[in-house]
Parts: sequence; C-alpha cells; structure tokens
Amino acid sequence: MDVLVVGSGGREHAICYSLAKSDKVGKLYCLPGNAGISEIAECVNISVMDADGIIAFLDKNKNIGMTVVAPDDPLAMGLVDMLEASGHRAFGPSKAAALIEASKAFSKWLMKKYNIPTANYEEFTDYNEALAYVQKQEYPLVVKADGLALGKGVIICNNVEEGEQAVKEMMVDGKFKAAGSKIIVEEFLVGREVSVLCFTDGKTIVPMVSSQDHKRAYDNDMGLNTGGMGTFSPSKIYTKEIADKVYTDIILPTMDAMNSENRKFKGVLYFGLMLTDKGVKVLEYNARFGDPETQVVLPRLKTDLFEIFDAIIDERLNEINIAWKDESAVCVILASGGYPEAYEKGLPITIGDLDKDIILFHAGTSFKDGKLVTNGGRVIGVTALGKDIDDARKKAYANVPKVKFDKVHYRKDIGIKL
Ligand code: AMP
Ligand code: GLY
Repeated sequence: MDVLVVGSGGREHAICYSLAKSDKVGKLYCLPGNAGISEIAECVNISVMDADGIIAFLDKNKNIGMTVVAPDDPLAMGLVDMLEASGHRAFGPSKAAALIEASKAFSKWLMKKYNIPTANYEEFTDYNEALAYVQKQEYPLVVKADGLALGKGVIICNNVEEGEQAVKEMMVDGKFKAAGSKIIVEEFLVGREVSVLCFTDGKTIVPMVSSQDHKRAYDNDMGLNTGGMGTFSPSKIYTKEIADKVYTDIILPTMDAMNSENRKFKGVLYFGLMLTDKGVKVLEYNARFGDPETQVVLPRLKTDLFEIFDAIIDERLNEINIAWKDESAVCVILASGGYPEAYEKGLPITIGDLDKDIILFHAGTSFKDGKLVTNGGRVIGVTALGKDIDDARKKAYANVPKVKFDKVHYRKDIGIKL
C-alpha cells in the first residue's frame, strides 16, 4: 500500500524513516516534506492546511491507502475527518479528539472533571477579571493562551508586573490572535519534565518509551523557549514504578474520559508530565507525535510502524505486540543562528561521512539550484543510538561537527543532566 505523510519537519522525517522500513509500504509520499525526506519519499508541494488540494491529490493517486496527519494545525482543523468523509483512510485524531491539544481550557476542564492530576487553574475570557486575579496571586505563575500558538503560548511569570503584562499581551494586544482571547492562569509546578507518547485506538492505549526534551535555546536551560533543541530516550527518572502509576492514574483515565465525552481519540496521544514531590501531574496533552521526541523514540521501535498505524485505524491495536530496542537514543538539533528569533534562510549545508548508528533527521532544509540549503529555524537533528545515553550522546556529538552551515547553533549539553 502507498502511504502519504502530511508535514515537513524532523518528526515527519522520523515517521517516514520508520514507514520506509516496512515491507508493507509501497511508495511513500510526503506533503510538503523537506530535502532529507525527499531521499525516501516523493515530496508533494501542497500545504498541510489545503484540505481540498490534499483530497484532490488522493483522488488521483488511488494506491495511497493511508494518510498520516502529523502536525497540530491540520489535526485541529479536522483534516482527518475531511479525508475520511471523502473516502480516504487516515491516521490521526478527529477534530473533536484533537481538541485535547487545541484548547487548553478544554483539557484542563477534562482533567478536573475526571480527577486527572494537573496544576490548579482558573479560566478567563474577561480581561479585567483576569487582571484582578493575577494581581492577587503568588508568583511564579503560569499564563497560557487557550488555543494553538506555535508552542509559544505559555508564559512563566515571576512577579505581578510580568503577570499583568502576559494577560495584556494575550487578551488586549492579541499577540496570539484568537488563541489568546481565552486564557488559563495556573499554578507553577516545580519538578522534572518527561514526555510519554502513547499509541491508542480509543480501546487500548500503549505508552511508547519515555523521552526528555530540552526546550531552552542555550546550555543549562538558558535563553528563550524553542520548539525543542534536543532529546534523549529513555528518561532515567521515569522509573517502571512511576510509569505503572502514571498508566493507572493518568493514561488510562484520559482515554476513558475522552470516550465518556464522545471524543474517542485515535492516533498518538502525547502526555507532557511534571514529576513533582507531590506526584506526577499533567502539564499538557498533544494530539500527535512530539518534535523532537519522535526523533529519539521511533529509532528505538522494533515493531513495524505501518502495522501499528493500520491497527489503530481499524481499532485492533490490542492485536499488536509493540517491542522496543534496549539501546538509548540522543538527538541534537542543529539550529539556524538567531533561532528562535529572526534567522537567515538559504545557507548552504555540507554533510561529511557519518559514523554508523547515526541518523540525520532533516527539519528546515530544502534544495536551491540542486544544493542543500537551510530553510527553517531548526535545520537538522543528529540522532545516535548507543548502549546507554552516555554512549549515544558521545556518538551524536562526534558527528555534529560533520554537518556544516554558516552560523549553526546547537546545545552542547543534550543528555547530560539526566
Ligand atoms: P505546555 O505547552 O503547556 O507544555 O508548556 C510549555 C512548557 O512550559 C512546558 O514544557 C513547561 O516547561 C512549562 N510549563 C507549562 N505549564 C507549567 C506549569 N504549570 N508549571 C511549570 N512549568 C510549566
Ligand atoms: N517537543 C514538544 C512538542 O512537540 O510539543
């Protein structure tokens, strides 16, 4: 069966890389894809939000038996529903289910209703009420835009002035447009973060191996928040004992809650967790694979990813035994100088001879006049597998300097603080 993957980042490259290994997958397409993806899939120049264009493409290419929708925006728009309504099989949650990521107010309400542990919060649609509230709180305090905001809609405020500023930016200045007209103000949690992605068909939910992201731009967690500067898997702090408790107290109850609300979730459900001294709490849900978590999780997958996706679409995930490699993985993101603020595009990239156990996952790359060039903030992820995190980290960093472009920026401490 031919398969189409929707998206263009490192996450989509990792999904294509895993699907390409399946002997059940015929031709692989990716839309719009990137330069690295074009080595294993035919890239199609259609926007991920152009539902009509995607449906017209599928109508013309009848051998495509599955479309995998990876990014948040098309999921929130309801692309999976639209594809299904026009007779195409799709992997990913419906619009109703994707709301678990697309509205923080909904996800907080869900957790409260079903007793799933999370930070205490209040929701506001009125600016004056929100302002009065943040003036009376203890700090630090977290202010979040309700809707999707490219991962930038969360502001940690250290004092009342910052709290007032955050509320004003979202509700008056319209910094996140409609996404910020409703806000959540929540308790600041102290602890360590772990990402747990799960496969689910709404009947069965199977956690993948755990991972940890490094979100800040610079070493030692300094600088601005980014989409993620590197990841490692597994998380050492996420012990089997904690994982078992999270499964019972958080993961299963979330699947059940979505069913109770008539929002059956099929796809990948991502749990962003904070391990606090008062137990594990949910920071956020994502309705999709994480980026760059996927770049350390999928290289460890032994089972055929296509078979898992196929089983989820048909709601027979219980028939699949999902197995993982014992090896650990580390991914170091090479970013454009200046990211996450302004940066240049179109800079030539050269890649030397890489060691074995190294996989490059392209994110922001393209071809210009036949030459590989930068085309985004996060450019390429260097993933290494090793016998443990230390081994994988050393292998990754031994290969990072072989990928060269002007003003390259990367963190030197991915996977050091475990
Ligand atoms: P989110 O998009 O909700 O995951 O937020 C992005 C990042 O903000 C998280 O990965 C955390 O590092 C941080 N964050 C979000 N909510 C809280 C909270 N209640 N307490 C502390 N940090 C938070
Ligand atoms: N790395 C965090 C995310 O994908 O949302």
